[in-house]
Amino acid sequence: TLLVLDFGSQVTQLIARRVRELGVYAEILPFDAPLEQLRAHAPKGIILSGGPSSIYDEGAPRLAKDVLDWCLGGEMPVLGICYGMFAMVAGLGGKVRPAKDREFGHAMIVVDAAAGPMTEFAGEGATGAGHEEPVWMSHGDEVESLPEGFESVAHSASCAHAAIYSEAGAGMWGVQFHPEVSHTRRGTALLGRFLDLCGFARDWSMGAFVEEAVARIREQVGDQGTVICGLSGGVDSSVAAALVERAIGDRLHCIFVDNGLLRKNEREQVEAMFAGRLHNPLVVADAGALFLDRLAGVTDPELKRKAIGATFIEVFDEKAHALGGADYLVQGTLYPDVIESVSARGPSATIKTHHNVGGLPEKMKMGVVEPLRELFKDEVRRLGLHLGLPETMIWRHPFPGPGLGVRVLGEVTEPRCAVLREADAIIIEEISRAGLYRDLWQVFGVLLPVRSVGVMGDARTYENALAVRAVESVDAMTADWAHLPYEVLGRISNRIINEVRGINRVCYDISSKPPATIEWE
Ligand code: XMP
Repeated sequence: TLLVLDFGSQVTQLIARRVRELGVYAEILPFDAPLEQLRAHAPKGIILSGGPSSIYDEGAPRLAKDVLDWCLGGEMPVLGICYGMFAMVAGLGGKVRPAKDREFGHAMIVVDAAAGPMTEFAGEGATGAGHEEPVWMSHGDEVESLPEGFESVAHSASCAHAAIYSEAGAGMWGVQFHPEVSHTRRGTALLGRFLDLCGFARDWSMGAFVEEAVARIREQVGDQGTVICGLSGGVDSSVAAALVERAIGDRLHCIFVDNGLLRKNEREQVEAMFAGRLHNPLVVADAGALFLDRLAGVTDPELKRKAIGATFIEVFDEKAHALGGADYLVQGTLYPDVIESVSARGPSATIKTHHNVGGLPEKMKMGVVEPLRELFKDEVRRLGLHLGLPETMIWRHPFPGPGLGVRVLGEVTEPRCAVLREADAIIIEEISRAGLYRDLWQVFGVLLPVRSVGVMGDARTYENALAVRAVESVDAMTADWAHLPYEVLGRISNRIINEVRGINRVCYDISSKPPATIEWE
């Protein structure tokens, strides 16, 4: 194992991810984890992460004395990144000070000596000392004086010690920049060389992740524990369920809530995907009528979301009880959800009340199993493929918990859902046929609470308008409307107006997020 001690940087998880991409298993532990816990991992190397604090801030994270002595005692190689480098320097008697010029973002470093962390940078392409390398910086402090035994091996315009190195012990490296960020061109190479220095075989893979995750789930749940999973058919819950299934088999029960707000054939697809894959048959809650009943007369988007969320909990709870309850609930939480929820960015405005299975564990007094907590979306996809889930499911676009409830604007009724379902299926079909599905983050239809006049044959029509929404995004935090080819838009519009009774006008949504959001409600 490689241990990453986390000082709170937003990109700490990227370190672990890069290391895993390089074939080494990495674990992240908080900087204040007790020494015995760190030792128990018997790490072959340690990376000290960056962090948001200045080392002089009151309450800035500091390693406990015994941990510091152990980390820097020479037992294994250590790499300090940004704040981690300051912690190392300060711990060994060097000095850190607030920088005159703070650096954020792209920067150039100049390699002064092809030693330690800079070997990779200066070596390739006979670049040698004096070579410039693009890196990504984010710091307000800088190293003022080095501890004994250290040499400076790179500098930048605004900092004298952009990379430092000491041969002492098993080797100590420090870098002011962030090698884990892709803007640091040779950052991955640097991390790779560090791993080699630690003596790793670089043979870790998704297969190994599965084994370890399975072992962890078994340990958490114990020999007797029972687990329940709310399966939506989306990538995250499906992969989480498949993993837990592998760990505990028949002690897992999966519940799928058909809320009547699903897309065309969605329930059948989910049933088919899990048929034969689970020890216990998928429990399907047929609750469409109940949800529609709760939504009758509700037009305010937040009230709709709340009604759907509350009904979901009620239905899920009832099914879980019928199964005899469970000790744990599986959640498909991903790493980005973890960062957003723990970040200290202060209270932020509620744009939309997101509905997942949040709120359930408290109500039902269950523990939570979150086997995907350390992964990014693309890693979850690879894991899903590794677990044998079908490609069509792995690449499915995200679909919001409240489903068509937030895509039928205004009151949600079954006839309106039915109209949207047909139009939406045509959109997906044409986008897939054009080979564009995987390039898009999401594409879907929105049924507007607007009617407009048209002419069909010789008759006047007065029917619904539908918006097509297609966006490109990497994380849904921001999104651009997709510049779909006119021919594809043309085919979508033609087919919908001709084939879907009740729609006589199709519009294309050309707003980006922000200021619009991806969903309309
Ligand atoms: P917005 O509309 O806020 O959506 O730009 C961002 C992303 O989140 C999805 N979304 C949801 N996902 N529960 C979910 O699990 C929800 O309640 C929910 N609302 C929106 C949306 O589809 C987009 O991918």
